[in-house]
Amino acid sequence: ESNRFKGRLFWMGHNHLEKGRRYKLRITTREVEAEVISIERVIDASTLSDIQDRDFIARDDVAEVTFRTRQPLVMDNHDKNASLGRFVIMDGHHVAGGGIVFGGVYTDRTKIKSSNITWSEAAVTRQHREIRNGHKSAIVWLTGLSGAGKSTIARELERELFNRSMQAYILDGDNVRHGLNSNLGFSPEDREENIRRVAEVARLMADAGSIVVTAFIAPYIADRRRAREIALEGGLDFYLVHINASLETCEARDPKDLYKKARAGEIQDFTGIDAPYEIPENPDLVVNTENQTLSESVAEILEFLRPKLRLDEPEMFAI
Ligand code: ADX
Repeated sequence: ESNRFKGRLFWMGHNHLEKGRRYKLRITTREVEAEVISIERVIDASTLSDIQDRDFIARDDVAEVTFRTRQPLVMDNHDKNASLGRFVIMDGHHVAGGGIVFGGVYTDRTKIKSSNITWSEAAVTRQHREIRNGHKSAIVWLTGLSGAGKSTIARELERELFNRSMQAYILDGDNVRHGLNSNLGFSPEDREENIRRVAEVARLMADAGSIVVTAFIAPYIADRRRAREIALEGGLDFYLVHINASLETCEARDPKDLYKKARAGEIQDFTGIDAPYEIPENPDLVVNTENQTLSESVAEILEFLRPKLRLDEPEMFAI
């Protein structure tokens, strides 16, 4: 159940689909008021080309958007459950678009061990904090091979955001594994738990107003998808950034001599050597560190983030 989800849609309306305008959305047997709160991607269906920086969706466009609905809806990702993952948009009395739900992450409640727990709502909300901070919070999830440049980029990105008076904080694999996750190793199960905990911590910190930059290998598609779902469940923006460099390059860099040790058989389950790295299928951004300088990589991420961190209504108020 959620009042926020991502959709891929096809627009047939005579009027543009506009951000912030109210439409009727039909899903299963429900009809609720809904608005598009962000447009992630627009494709012109006649040329199949991406349209950059467009704030609306025109007739015959295909788009990826985030919806917010007035009431929570029961839904599922279309690939998991087609009938719970299809919707129609009405503009007035006309069917103006249709699409599917994707990329949602819904916590498996059967995994919650404690009973008699209730969620308490705070008086100070994330929106209040965002307005005070002057920017939206977000989770910027860097993924890639060891040696691809995640930690280095995260540090520089954090510095750039900080110098722009923004709240930013890094969660880094090597650091988190010294404390919170010190009881976890590198088996698939331990990596899954590593990523789950980090996603939950990132969610809390982003809820507190921060731009959380995570630097973990996070080698499994399913774990990254779950991290995104945890963020979406909290109503947070989540951007998956693939820090991309070939295994050969990472191995040549080998900043911690770990590839050397893995090749010599001194480390087992090393990502890229005898453990897998599943390339992101749907990253929000790919940064190629192979033929780019550090500042070019960071500039690319900053440029991508800047419009996304902007507040819709930036006025200050007290509560
Ligand atoms: S993840 O796969 O669970 O996301 P994470 O990013 O937390 O991994 O930790 C990766 C870091 O741990 C690497 O940068 C490296 O320094 C260290 N490390 C030690 N052993 C391994 C291993 N077997 N595989 C990958 N990284 C390892």
